[in-house]
Amino acid sequence: MSNVNPISSEAVDAAVAHALDLIGKAADLAELKASRGAAVGDQSPIAALSAQMGKIAPEFKAEAGKLVGQARATLSAAYATREEELHTAEESAKLAAESVDVTAAPQLRPLGARHPLSLLQDTIADIFVGMGWEIAEGPEVENEWFNFDALNFDADHPARAMQDTFFVEPVESHLVLRTHTSPVQVRSMLERDLPLYVLCPGRVFRTDELDATHTPVFHQVEGLAVDKGLNMADLRGTLEHFAREMFGPEAQIRLRPSFFPFTEPSAELDVWHPGAKGGARWVEWGGCGMVNPNVLKAAGIDPEVYTGFAFGMGIERTLMFRNDVRDMHDMVEADVRFSQQFGVTL
Ligand code: DAH
Repeated sequence: MSNVNPISSEAVDAAVAHALDLIGKAADLAELKASRGAAVGDQSPIAALSAQMGKIAPEFKAEAGKLVGQARATLSAAYATREEELHTAEESAKLAAESVDVTAAPQLRPLGARHPLSLLQDTIADIFVGMGWEIAEGPEVENEWFNFDALNFDADHPARAMQDTFFVEPVESHLVLRTHTSPVQVRSMLERDLPLYVLCPGRVFRTDELDATHTPVFHQVEGLAVDKGLNMADLRGTLEHFAREMFGPEAQIRLRPSFFPFTEPSAELDVWHPGAKGGARWVEWGGCGMVNPNVLKAAGIDPEVYTGFAFGMGIERTLMFRNDVRDMHDMVEADVRFSQQFGVTL
């Protein structure tokens, strides 16, 4: 047994310096934890000194014990302080990374908009659905019989020439691109039960060149009511309500005698448009009339028992005078800036 205390204050200081160096060098909590064993744990110099405690001469024990005890206290405080520091640093780095700059300029993504023709078609459909009518649809490639014959156009009737038709080849197929939505009248009468109140919106085709007021592809909306005892007053009342919903409570309608093969009597429909650009005025809006008995017969309906009224108008034309759209090109060019002017309503 030596008479020198092996657990000298120099040895303890060196062990403490070694541990403090490791603790100080740890850049984050993970490193600190990893260095724990070498700094203050089993593999550390201070632990090695502690292990010698049992072997040293009893007269040195008190002093050595004190040195080692103080050193351990210092180290565990240093370790805890560093742990706290690193924890705080990591926490604030995380907060900084997750912070939101409420003053930053938002990312503006341009919003699309539904096409005003779709919006208008929906508005019209809503008005009629509100009166209990149903929506009916038919094919765009239509049988000639539905497009003309069943609607009382004779094979050599000059009225066939009123509409410039796209015929689908081969001619024997007797298919056309429908020139109006009126064939849906006949389809509805054949497919549905009476009484019948249907609105038929859809795309139609005519051999027109695209210009400011024409387009070869456009839209119409057709109305058809078939019931017992319907007369011209019912037609008038329905159209008047429709006009007021579309153009405001001051809107009026006027019917002028006309001719369509599928209605008798037939009329041109004008609307008094109170909000017209440049002042209130009468505007030609569409055609209408009492369904011709021949059309009812073609659909298997007895014209002695049932009568009907019908009307039809162009959606592009309606949009033009209702919303002051001057040029048809704007409606077909699909520039979103045009649609956006009508709002982004869903
Ligand atoms: N189908 C006609 C056209 O395209 C419009 C029309 C007129 C429809 C009178 C009707 C009607 O239902 O009764 O010119």
